[in-house]
Amino acid sequence: MSIKRVRLEGVAVQPTIASILELVNVNKSFGGLVAVQDVNLQIRPKEIVSIIGPNGAGKTTVFNLITGIYRPTSGDIRLQGKSLVGLKPDQVLVRGIARTFQNIRLFNNMTVLENVLVGQHTQLKASVLDSLLRTPRVLHEEAEARKRALDLLGFFGSALIERQEEYAINLSYADRRRVEIARALAAKPQLLLLDEPTAGMNEAETLEAVKYVRRLRDEIGLTILLIEHKLTVTMGISDRIAVLDYGRKIAEGLPDEIRRDERVIAAYLGKPTTSDQNTHE
Ligand SMILES: Nc1ncnc2c1ncn2[C@@H]1O[C@H](COP(=O)(O)OP(=O)(O)OP(=O)(O)O)[C@@H](O)[C@H]1O
Ligand SMILES: [Mg+2]
Repeated sequence: MSIKRVRLEGVAVQPTIASILELVNVNKSFGGLVAVQDVNLQIRPKEIVSIIGPNGAGKTTVFNLITGIYRPTSGDIRLQGKSLVGLKPDQVLVRGIARTFQNIRLFNNMTVLENVLVGQHTQLKASVLDSLLRTPRVLHEEAEARKRALDLLGFFGSALIERQEEYAINLSYADRRRVEIARALAAKPQLLLLDEPTAGMNEAETLEAVKYVRRLRDEIGLTILLIEHKLTVTMGISDRIAVLDYGRKIAEGLPDEIRRDERVIAAYLGKPTTSDQNTHE
């Protein structure tokens, strides 16, 4: 059978208008360690694309490069044709890329609702002076923000709305992952990056997560790039899968192609990962 192989070295992929996000020959070194090497990747609007690979393969580093936490050592990252290189994380967020983290990053001593409200800060228009004076504009904006935050929590059913005043730290792991997605959505992204969205979840929660990731695309119209260790999730959910090993993209294709790719089997499927055993976050 034929595997859609990628050009691994040297040649930049021609930008296409159809891509929403493009990584062009992206490299990232940390001192002597090359964490990401010559990675090319194109994501089209409303695709669900997964990045898989063994621990330490460079998956999270790719997210950190896209979101401006790290700057590529070389190469380019473009959102709708415009380079993101050099932008700070909040600027990348304003451009339309939101993310969740492998190690959930909620404000544990803030409530569920407050955490989602924080995610809307890029959307607020009132000035600091408005805020200090509590002008009608501020009061109106706060009421709207609150309503919208509740709508976003409602994406996951009524459970989180009922727990809106609960401190984030008191939520289950699965609920905290949901709140983190709601917070990411608050910034009205077009592209959502999910770093191991089912890590730490049991089987039922994982199945539920698969459903809502699809709904994020189908109902909200988001494009989704996710890192995921559980193959049942990636194989079932992805339009395409890219496989990283030691920082290089070793394969890319449809789930069925990836499942049968011998390099992938050797590099990844044959090796148990710590996340498969649920010990790794
Ligand atoms: N800030 C950093 N400084 C030095 N090395 C780093 C840094 N961030 C990542 N690395 C290294 O880069 C490599 C890729 O790490 P990364 O976190 O991207 O892997 P990953 O594929 O997400 O792995 P996992 O499945 O364990 O989450 C690893 O060897 C890691 O130690
Ligand atoms: Mg990672």
